[in-house]
Amino acid sequence: MPGSIVVGTQWGDEGKGRVVDIVAKECSHVVRYQGGHNAGHTLVVDGETFALQLIPSGVLYEHVIPVIGNGVVVDPHVLLAEIEMLGAKGVDCSRLMVSPQAHLVLPYHQLMDELAETQLGDAKLGTTKRGIGPAYADKASRTGIRVEDLLDSDYLRERLHAVLRERNIILREIYGHEGVDPDVLADQLITEVAPKLSPYIGDTIGELHTALQSGERVLFEGAQATFLDLDHGTYPFVTSSNPVSGYALVGAGLGPGAVDQVIGIAKAYLTRVGSGPFVTELIDEIGDYLVETGREYGTNTGRRRRTGWFDSVMARQSVRLNACSEIALTKLDVLDQLKIIKVCVAYEVDGRRYEYLPHLRRLHDRATPIYEELPGWLQDLSEVTDRSELPNEAIDYISFLEQQIGVPIRFVSVGPGREQYLRFTS
Ligand code: GDP
Ligand code: IMO
Ligand code: MG
Repeated sequence: MPGSIVVGTQWGDEGKGRVVDIVAKECSHVVRYQGGHNAGHTLVVDGETFALQLIPSGVLYEHVIPVIGNGVVVDPHVLLAEIEMLGAKGVDCSRLMVSPQAHLVLPYHQLMDELAETQLGDAKLGTTKRGIGPAYADKASRTGIRVEDLLDSDYLRERLHAVLRERNIILREIYGHEGVDPDVLADQLITEVAPKLSPYIGDTIGELHTALQSGERVLFEGAQATFLDLDHGTYPFVTSSNPVSGYALVGAGLGPGAVDQVIGIAKAYLTRVGSGPFVTELIDEIGDYLVETGREYGTNTGRRRRTGWFDSVMARQSVRLNACSEIALTKLDVLDQLKIIKVCVAYEVDGRRYEYLPHLRRLHDRATPIYEELPGWLQDLSEVTDRSELPNEAIDYISFLEQQIGVPIRFVSVGPGREQYLRFTS
């Protein structure tokens, strides 16, 4: 049986983790294929909240094997802390598999990220300061350290010496930082990290191929989202990996035939953390309402998220870029108290109408939204579990979005809890 991909269609925090938690029930493996601990995926199960950064959201099911694929960058301390945190909550992580080819996020990556952002001042990208960009830059520069290097102490020490020779010059000369001692770091990785992490390092590619061949369904869990994608996002205000569905295969070590379902996750409105363009942004009391009602503060960094109306232009572009077969619409309940709900149906730039994202940044930067207004439902949806219980205005809103996006909305969530969702068939 082929696999399913869950991918964010906006700027992240769409509720990917909570959708994965539901879809994973029918899957044998859940694989993270890119990103690192810049992600924050929240699951609420029986009133208990789990905020996951690196471990795939399927971990709560005993029958699911969570896999960290080769496309991920792994901060080993964060991973070990997450395993411990889950263990303390009674979740067994012994099934976890980590690809030997995944790259490590090390203290100098985090330092470079933080110092670079500070130096940029008002021009900062607004990164999570987790070291993700520098770790992927090292991977591309072929100076990265991989998970498998933890199993080879001499090689690890040698590589750290080589990379830190140059990195320490930058840290000292440009940022006035004392630098990182390669031997201290190597000792720590060899004595503290490697023994704890090595039981999880395994043949993730072999494992996934065998699962697919024997008819199991594998779920690929995207982190970040389409418009944070290094190629397709609002560059340079993007992350340093490729969240789009195409990369799921690269980041897990599979070919294109391995997937027959791509579920695009879209919030019923829009949010963004960090800098960059935002055509439908609301800097008014409705924006504040969305922040407070939707609890729009980063799972990971605690930062206040920027908010705006649903943007069909981005959604359509996302369907194209990811080949979404369907959409899961989340956080519909957050709109419960709004009398009027606006939806951006197209952009206008210099008098021209755009149904898809303008292909040049300088056009995108000048885009203004063309809105259609829909009546709100002014009812609490948080207990709704079936389409028949939805007020007409909510059905109309979902159907309108479906028509705008061009693929079916098959799942609608109305609260953070595992049970707070309904299947939607038009
Ligand atoms: P992810 O990064 O895409 O997994 O999303 P996050 O976990 O960062 O952010 C989504 C937030 O919305 C989390 O706090 C979820 O618990 C919450 N959430 C998810 N679905 C719903 C929903 O349908 N309604 C409400 N009110 N909250 C939701
Ligand atoms: P999940 O998986 C929302 C944003 C940062 C910043 C930009 C680059 O929870 O949806 P980075 O640290 O990756 O170099 O920062 O990307 N960003 C996210 N925004 N959700 C995320 O992950 C994000 N991961 C990174 O805020 O704008
Ligand atoms: Mg998140």
